Amino acid sequence: MPDANSQNGRQEQKIYKLVDDQGKVVAELPLLHPTLGFDVVDTRKLFQTANITTFDPSYGSTASCRSSISYVDGDNGVLLYRGYPIEELAEKSTFLEVAYLLLFGELPTQSELDKFVHEITMHTMVHEQIANFFSGFRRDAHPMAILLGVVGALSAFYPDSIDVHDPQQRLISIYRLIAKMPTISAMAHKYSLGQPFIYPRNNLEYSANFLHMMFAVPAEEYKVNPIFAKAMNTLFIVQADHEQNASTSTVRGVGSSHANPFASIAAGIASLWGPLHGGANEAVLRMLLDIGTKDRIPEVIARAKDKNDPFRLFGFGHRVYKNYDPRARVMKRVYEEVLSELGVSNDPLFDLARELEKVALNDEYFISHKLYPNVDFYSGVIMRALGIPMTMFTAIFAIARTPGWLAQWKEMIEDPDQRIARPRQLYTGAPRRSYVDVKHRVSQNGAAAGKQIKAEVHET
Ligand code: CMC
Repeated sequence: MPDANSQNGRQEQKIYKLVDDQGKVVAELPLLHPTLGFDVVDTRKLFQTANITTFDPSYGSTASCRSSISYVDGDNGVLLYRGYPIEELAEKSTFLEVAYLLLFGELPTQSELDKFVHEITMHTMVHEQIANFFSGFRRDAHPMAILLGVVGALSAFYPDSIDVHDPQQRLISIYRLIAKMPTISAMAHKYSLGQPFIYPRNNLEYSANFLHMMFAVPAEEYKVNPIFAKAMNTLFIVQADHEQNASTSTVRGVGSSHANPFASIAAGIASLWGPLHGGANEAVLRMLLDIGTKDRIPEVIARAKDKNDPFRLFGFGHRVYKNYDPRARVMKRVYEEVLSELGVSNDPLFDLARELEKVALNDEYFISHKLYPNVDFYSGVIMRALGIPMTMFTAIFAIARTPGWLAQWKEMIEDPDQRIARPRQLYTGAPRRSYVDVKHRVSQNGAAAGKQIKAEVHET
């Protein structure tokens, strides 16, 4: 098997030549061969040798790093973690086993797994002082706002584990973050309800413990439903990593300055929150509730296709997948298991989602644009069936993505070629000019400068 870390999976050396309109070779660019996927033109020396940079603002054609963690074949709807198909892991594995795989590259033996699970479990509690943060938030604060603040603040509690150059400290931070994400997220939920925080229970496995902290109350006995815990485990697994998506690139970007891991993960949480990324699961549910009934589907499809309307069909489309997102397929199966456990034969919201999917997949616009349901299309409906409020959906995605973010962060820090992320730009501003005294200035900003922007201030 080729070394997944090597630049060249295959032997032949190909060079791409950049030729100007006079036929002069401006640069010779080596071609790198990944173990899977499309060849990559190596432009690292382009600026140095030719004083030219490349323009690719959303990185649609740019490999930002070398990575051996996950791989998406967007044309065929395939997702692999360290080579293992997501469907197999979702069916057979556990979230912590997958976390180990992402972090260390291979599935653990029983003793390796036991040790890893023990390490994570021993870090599930948070410092009591962290509970005090919560009272500074409004009760209706969005859990993601709380999560990104509290996770960033963990760096103030663990100064013993923020030296990114020390492998042991990196590992302890990794354990702490994976262990504490469910605890902090569940605390955010409890705070919104005005209920006491529930301490973690270390005799429960990771997903079951999270449900326990979400739903238990001190006054009652709470037994975690194993089908629900299994559904949560699968939900966590399918969202654990996904190549160089926006939040992962953010974690790598922040981490590239050697900022501590708590700060880097907090930045990832911030990026995930957006509705085009992890925030889509909440947006899908809001959209479905807003649509309400099947007869409104044609109207919604028409809006999604209208170029003059910013509305998009949330849970549809992906930068890389031009086929069915394999995670969405797994989610659909999990949903059916949850429904059968609940003894519900039909859920109007799921029916609506299925009908919307059917109409979209038969619509010329969605076909020609290769827009298929993504992971977020069904994950929200599942979490709703588990009794989770929609403002918690993206926080749950963040718990799931934490091992992926950390594996990518660790890989970056350990990469000898790693340098601070510092893109170039295509400058479109004014050329150099001299300062003019205010008395002699003529307005250059026209209407824009004089326009009054009315700000609405909500005081409570
Ligand atoms: N509804 C309607 N049209 C769409 C949609 C959509 N959901 N997604 C893309 N398009 C159209 C878009 O208008 C454009 O059309 P045209 O070429 O005619 O101008 C074309 O498809 C390509 O879209 P794009 O915005 O250039 O594609 P992108 O790769 O930059 O964006 C995306 C990817 C996921 C942000 C986008 O598909 C989207 O906004 N989807 C809805 C939000 C969503 O579900 N996000 C979750 C992504 S999966 C979970 C995760 O990894 O976070």
